Amino acid sequence: MTPVTVITGASAGIGRELARVFAGNGHALVLVARREARLNELAAEIAAAGHPKPLVLAVDLALPGATARIGEALAARALEPQYIVNNAGFGLVGRAAEIDRGEQLGMIDLNMRVLTDLSLGFVDSLARHRGGILNVASIAGVMPGPGSAVYYASKAFVLSLSEALHQEFAPRGIRVTCLCPGPVASEFQARAGIVEAEPPWALAVSAERVAAEGYRGLMRGRRVVVPGWACKLLFALMPRIVPRLVLLARLEARQVGRLGRR
Ligand SMILES: NC(=O)c1ccc[n+]([C@@H]2O[C@H](COP(=O)([O-])OP(=O)(O)OC[C@H]3O[C@@H](n4cnc5c(N)ncnc54)[C@H](OP(=O)(O)O)[C@@H]3O)[C@@H](O)[C@H]2O)c1
Repeated sequence: MTPVTVITGASAGIGRELARVFAGNGHALVLVARREARLNELAAEIAAAGHPKPLVLAVDLALPGATARIGEALAARALEPQYIVNNAGFGLVGRAAEIDRGEQLGMIDLNMRVLTDLSLGFVDSLARHRGGILNVASIAGVMPGPGSAVYYASKAFVLSLSEALHQEFAPRGIRVTCLCPGPVASEFQARAGIVEAEPPWALAVSAERVAAEGYRGLMRGRRVVVPGWACKLLFALMPRIVPRLVLLARLEARQVGRLGRR
C-alpha cells in the first residue's frame, strides 16, 4: 500500500496552502473538498511543479458515509494514509438563537464529527507509516465565543480532542498536532457572514504562513501550534488574565459587530 497525505478542505484558503507545503516536501497527496474543478486546478499546479499528481476526491464531507467513501476510494487504489490533515470547516457569526439551527448543526457535523471520524479511522495505517494527524482548530478554541457560540465550541472540541490524542497516540509513533490560527483572510469570512472592512489585522497571519508553521510543527511532533506572536500571546494569556465576564461581553460585541447581511 502506498502512503499518502489526505487533506480535507484543499480547494481554498489554509487547506490549499497546506497542500502546496506537503507537496513541496515530497508527500503524495489526496485532495478532498466539494469543488472538484478547484481541486483539479491545484492538482495540475502541483504536478506542473514536478511533484506526484495528487488524487482528487470531490466529496461533500457533510453527507452521511462521506468518510467511508474516502476510505473506499483509497483502498481501491492501494493507497493508505500516512498523514491526515483535518482542515475542512466553517464558522457562523450571529447570536445562536438567531441563526439557522440546521446550519449550526451542520457545522458541528463537519468541524467535529467528520474530524473525529477521520482522526480515528486510519490509526493502524498512520502507525505503520509513522505518520500523524494535523487538526485545524483556531485560537477560538481557548475561549467561549458569544456571537459565534457554536463555532468557538466546535474549535474547543478540536483542541481538546487533539491534545488528548497527541498523548494517546504517541506510544504508537503517531504525531498529533493541533494548528490554532488567528484570523486568516480566506473564504471563511464570507461563509461566516462577516463583512467587516478591516479584520483584526494586528492578529492576522497569512494562509501561507499558517500552513508552513503547521507543517513544521507536525513534523517536529508539537502538540499545539499557534502561528504569529500576537496570537500566541492571546492564546496563552487571554483566557487566564481577562475576567470571564469582561471576555464574554467584549467578544459578543465584537462578533455581532462583524455581522453582515446573510
Ligand atoms: N480563516 C480564518 O480566519 C480561520 C481562523 C482559524 C481557524 N480557521 C479554520 O481553518 C480551516 C480552514 O478555513 P479557511 O480559512 O481556509 O476557510 P475557507 O477558505 O472557507 O476554506 C474551507 C475549505 O473547507 C472546505 N469545505 C467546507 N465545507 C465542506 C464540506 N461539506 N465538504 C468538504 N469540504 C468542505 C471548502 O471546500 P469546498 O467549498 O470546495 O467544499 C474549503 O476548501 C477551518 O477549519 C477553519 O475553521 C480559519
